[in-house]
Amino acid sequence: MNHVLAASQFDTNGLAILFAEADKMQAAAATPTGSRLLTGKHQGHVMATLFYEPSTRTRLSFESAAQRLGLGLISTENAREFSSAAKGETLEDSIRVIDGYADVIVLRHHETGAASRAAAVSRVPIINAGDGKGEHPTQALLDVYTVLKELSRLDNLTIVAGGDLAHGRTVRSFVQLMSLYAGNKFCFVSTPELKIGDDIKSFLKQKRIEFRETDNLLDGCQEADVIYWTRLQKERLENKTLASNFVIDKAVMKTLPKRAIIMHPLPRVGEIAAAVDRDPRAAYFRQAENGLYMRMVLIDQILSNKSLTR
Ligand code: NCD
Repeated sequence: MNHVLAASQFDTNGLAILFAEADKMQAAAATPTGSRLLTGKHQGHVMATLFYEPSTRTRLSFESAAQRLGLGLISTENAREFSSAAKGETLEDSIRVIDGYADVIVLRHHETGAASRAAAVSRVPIINAGDGKGEHPTQALLDVYTVLKELSRLDNLTIVAGGDLAHGRTVRSFVQLMSLYAGNKFCFVSTPELKIGDDIKSFLKQKRIEFRETDNLLDGCQEADVIYWTRLQKERLENKTLASNFVIDKAVMKTLPKRAIIMHPLPRVGEIAAAVDRDPRAAYFRQAENGLYMRMVLIDQILSNKSLTR
């Protein structure tokens, strides 16, 4: 079945198709005739969004994408409190029921591995919209798509990822996808407590991909083509006194390469100053919009039974 569970399921051929389709979706959605045609595409199908953790962009862009393709929607945005999980129902049982109501299920859950557990029992495709500290593969798809749109290439890039790399899931998926392209190298900027997981470092070592770690923002970002910034994942911290300490403000922007793009999965909570928004290198709001087109493509491909992955 066409589940979307992890970045590792994608290859560059599959990605190239998704990116080309996303361009077409955006073009079609921009015209009244095109968008009317799109709403006829999957009428009669229903998508369920099942979110056990807060979300703005992921849930709303999936729901907007579904509606633009003519799907009906059922949704529980606070499943931890308002679904039967609050009564003690297991995720597996909830999925076994919801898969009778929907043709595709978008799941966000606080436990790593939850999407795979759901996929193991589901009769319909599961899309992982974030599982704990695990992965966020659809975010990575829109992130890589954003790099392509902004820089017109995906190879031979220096990618700097910073912030809370220990508890965030977006960088973990993004790094895996960007590693598929030749000549990319990585620099991870974080405090020692918030370093990227050893599993990601072993993955890079095994693939002989160059990377380094630093706790100095200015040193880390000097050669960057892509700067991917993240917030402190407060809700996942055992030690609540930790801080991620790296703020990109106008002064930092002055020192960054002229053509580097600044990305962020959002929400930001102070690690990129609002004054940076006016800088043409600030790509994060364009990045968020790209999520709509990428998610339209995913829903369309899944419901058309086209293979997304290897
Ligand atoms: C991210 C997430 O949920 O992992 N948000 C998103 O989907 N854009 C990043 C975050 O919450 O920090």
